[in-house]
Amino acid sequence: MKILITGGAGFIGSHVVRLFVTKYPNYTIHNLDKLTYAGNLANLTDIENKPNYKFVKGDIVDAAFINDLFNKEKYNAVIHLAAESHVDRSITNPLEFVMTNVIGTVNLLNAAKELYKNDPTKFTKFYHVSTDEVYGALGETGMFTEETSYDPHSPYSASKASSDHFVRAYHDTYGLPVVISNCSNNYGPNHFPEKLIPLCIHNIKMNKPLPIYGKGENVRDWLFVEDHATAIDTVYHKAKLGSTYNIGGHNEWTNIDVIRLLCKVMDKKLGRPEGTNEKLITFVKDRAGHDLRYAIDATKLKNDLGWVPSVTFEQGLDRTVDWYLNNSEWLDNVTSGNYTHYYEEQYTKR
Ligand code: NAD
Ligand code: TYD
Repeated sequence: MKILITGGAGFIGSHVVRLFVTKYPNYTIHNLDKLTYAGNLANLTDIENKPNYKFVKGDIVDAAFINDLFNKEKYNAVIHLAAESHVDRSITNPLEFVMTNVIGTVNLLNAAKELYKNDPTKFTKFYHVSTDEVYGALGETGMFTEETSYDPHSPYSASKASSDHFVRAYHDTYGLPVVISNCSNNYGPNHFPEKLIPLCIHNIKMNKPLPIYGKGENVRDWLFVEDHATAIDTVYHKAKLGSTYNIGGHNEWTNIDVIRLLCKVMDKKLGRPEGTNEKLITFVKDRAGHDLRYAIDATKLKNDLGWVPSVTFEQGLDRTVDWYLNNSEWLDNVTSGNYTHYYEEQYTKR
């Protein structure tokens, strides 16, 4: 079983690569990644020398490269995570999201379709990893189920929704064996510090303002990244071909409550008097088209495949903060030099 995992140097992809390389020594795992600002091979140093692992640098937007790679390697399956993933960046540069998230996905589907056509017994699965943001925004009640209609609002979610539609279209039109999962917001180690939780961990450490959009009343449903990786493992191995699963941990928080909790946890860990970090909270201009609330109903995943998350939010957040405090070099590296503090530039523009 030779599996191509795309975007494996990024946040979630690195946890999925690690899980598959270590749990399934009889699988060969290739990690295809362009190494954009979000891709970082330092996320994988502990497994980079494993005999069943190989890194392949490349761009999924480059169709000729993708076709050559698939022809040469004859993959048996694909787990597709490579994407542009930050909503704020999609507002500034939507076309980049169309290129990677839509065109890149279609390039992979075309290459997979050829392998499947040549030998349907050998190409077994195209697993597309997607987001709950394709469903749009909820009001104060209700949850996203697998039956919820797509209603994306940001260029990011519109590009992911489009890629999901293409994956289903390749199943319905060409019989390609596909599965899709749509997950809620992840947090944990290796998360690039432009997203809410790692950005605030970094800023608290540096005694910098914590930028909260609007009034901080938007709700997100947070899942620890290692739990997402085990859910992907479960869906990959157990889901019926052609099916979709929502992944989430029934863990809704307003942004302001998440950051207040984080401030408390970090007061303790940094030995600062209680209430110190909360003073860094700064309300800033709201994000354009800011979705009010996301909440995932993951009942189907629990009932059909038996997956449930393994940690509470408090446990996951504690582990996340410890990881960032113990990995200063990782954090310093991605917040300096070439990265030019994209998020700080955005913040000072507000
Ligand atoms: P990330 O931005 O941390 O990582 C994306 C990875 O893809 C990076 O390593 C990057 O180098 C690579 N990449 C980007 N463009 C590429 C290209 N053209 N060719 C090859 N590689 C390319 O993203 P993430 O948060 O780890 O998200 C991974 C996947 O999970 C995405 O598809 C995202 O939509 C989905 N998802 C994310 C979340 C979340 O909360 N982060 C939740 C649900 C679903
Ligand atoms: P983010 O981590 O960007 O994930 P997503 O937009 O995919 O949900 O943002 C999570 C929430 O936090 C979202 O409601 C926007 C908000 N937010 C802030 O309030 N301040 C920030 O600096 C960032 C990056 C996000």
